[in-house]
Amino acid sequence: MSGIEIEPIAGSLGAEIRGVDLARPLADADAADIRGALGQHSVIFLRGQKITPEQHIAFARSFGPIVVNRFFTPVDGHPEIAEVRKEPEQKRNIGDIWHTDHSYDEKPAMGSVLLAREVPSRGGDTMFASMHLAYEALSDGLKRTLETLRARHSSRHVFGPEAPYHGSDLASRLRNTEAATQDVVHPVVIRHPDTGRKALYVNRSFTTGIEGWNPDESAALLGFLYEHGSRPEFTCRFRWQPGSIAVWDNRSTWHYAVNDYQGERRLMHRITIEGVALQ
Ligand code: SIN
Repeated sequence: MSGIEIEPIAGSLGAEIRGVDLARPLADADAADIRGALGQHSVIFLRGQKITPEQHIAFARSFGPIVVNRFFTPVDGHPEIAEVRKEPEQKRNIGDIWHTDHSYDEKPAMGSVLLAREVPSRGGDTMFASMHLAYEALSDGLKRTLETLRARHSSRHVFGPEAPYHGSDLASRLRNTEAATQDVVHPVVIRHPDTGRKALYVNRSFTTGIEGWNPDESAALLGFLYEHGSRPEFTCRFRWQPGSIAVWDNRSTWHYAVNDYQGERRLMHRITIEGVALQ
């Protein structure tokens, strides 16, 4: 038995975990309970973790092998850790659109482990939405239709040479535009690889269309699903402090980084965990 406490933070998804100090080696029983909580709540939060990059990496590895992000600037000396940074003079932040990380990969990242290093005096929260609940709230008729569909996802329009970020202050924080060559097709409704529970798997950032549908038809259906998936009753919102950590499951959630802290610095360290092909 491990001594950790798990408390849901909303009726939809998300739970805070207490009784864990990641500056010490994580007991196997605690690691198993934390993975179990992630499976049950889709996103979990820890607070007050005073940890080094090596300890951050060790915690991330307790969920699986790390996959290195190609487009975010890495932390010096730690290619596994991507920097999610906004300086006081910068206007744009990274991630202020509902999305799931790496859906443009053939084997999209299973999860992300985000650690707050510096946070603004107010604002800079992250919102999460449950794609299990979003799917389950649809009518049986639409569920049946969606289960026959596959959607295209790409990194090109977000990180490639033509991406709008090049004309903005995000340009100094992203890199490797020539590596944005990922185009992939995933089912619109996936079965979670661990639990089998169904989830909606399209997102406003990286999904580019429905296979076999024209752009207008795709835009109409996807537009509906994006509005539906972000309904407040499917979401939770996390207020960061230095040393807070969020771990989310990219197969069952979207997330959204709220950009409401102009003039202040926010520095986060993100590690992504390898996933599997989705069905
Ligand atoms: C992300 O989109 O991965 C970053 C989220 C955040 O900075 O809150």
